[in-house]
Amino acid sequence: MQELIQKIDSYKSEINQFIATDEKLVEDFRIKWLGTKGILKGIMGEMKNVPNEQKREAGQLLNEFKLFAEAKYNEFKETVSSQPGSASGEIDLSLPGDETPLGSRHPISLMRNKIISIFQRLGFAVAEGPEIEDDWHNFGALNMPEHHPARDMQDTFYVDAANNGAVSWLLRTHTSNTQVHEMQKGKLPIRVICPGRVYRNETISARSHCFFHQVEGLYIDENVSFADLKQTLYFFVKEMYGKDVKVRFRPSYFPFTEPSAEMDVTCFICGGKGCNICKKTGWVEILGCGVVHPNVLKNCGIDPEKYTGFAFGMGVERPALLKYGINDIRLFSENDVRFLKQFTSAT
Ligand code: PHE
Repeated sequence: MQELIQKIDSYKSEINQFIATDEKLVEDFRIKWLGTKGILKGIMGEMKNVPNEQKREAGQLLNEFKLFAEAKYNEFKETVSSQPGSASGEIDLSLPGDETPLGSRHPISLMRNKIISIFQRLGFAVAEGPEIEDDWHNFGALNMPEHHPARDMQDTFYVDAANNGAVSWLLRTHTSNTQVHEMQKGKLPIRVICPGRVYRNETISARSHCFFHQVEGLYIDENVSFADLKQTLYFFVKEMYGKDVKVRFRPSYFPFTEPSAEMDVTCFICGGKGCNICKKTGWVEILGCGVVHPNVLKNCGIDPEKYTGFAFGMGVERPALLKYGINDIRLFSENDVRFLKQFTSAT
């Protein structure tokens, strides 16, 4: 009896020293102590050697030990299964989550979409056209016949490989080519904006690039006047730059519009006081515009006696540079993630 008591005491201290670190160890514990060939079964078997008068007491001791071992086993099982990473474990909500990197829109897309959405509210539809264009759609139809000096306003990339002698192909210098395509469709009235990429043979620097983006607009119907043009652009400026921005039109020249103008707004950086951005003038030029030249309408099969229209065109890069405080136009096309990821929450 004394022997049994000692044995159980030493078993208990062995169990008390056991540390449950994983499920495998806990299972080993079960096999060792509670399994069919385990220690508990073994000492139960020794009961038969205990003299009859001590059987009761020994039975109690063994039973108590059995409950102790089972309770410990359950406790260990509980401990490992609540550990994070355990297959059967509950989810540990305090762990940091896996980070999914957020994508972002390109600042040029953000600005282009902003411009488009303002004109869409006025009922303009979006039209897109080819970037590789024939001479006629880019120049000829727009009142710039071959050898017209106005072609020098836009240094052009000609695509020699595609030049079969009859037609010269080029990278469009403005999205006005899309307006020509729209007019040729012959469906009137026309109210479209033409966003897209354009190309000019210019030296690449912080301020200019050989490709950039434009949004141009065209409205043709009966009785469209310069007043309609002004009203449309006023609306655009208020929506884009706010109610307090002032606007001025300066007479200008484009072969495809007459009269033509350039539109300035009060500098949105200094508010018109004069700063480096506006070269101390207080004004920034944002677009060119005018009443569509009758020759252009004629070239595209529209009767200039019946229809009139206005057109305008603006770059996307400059307003984006100013809005997002970017100082080098080359950043837009270098695809540097460190630059691009700054726009994840920009609008
Ligand atoms: N196509 C002109 C440019 O790229 C912009 C413009 C469009 C001017 C329509 C007047 C009217 O410079």
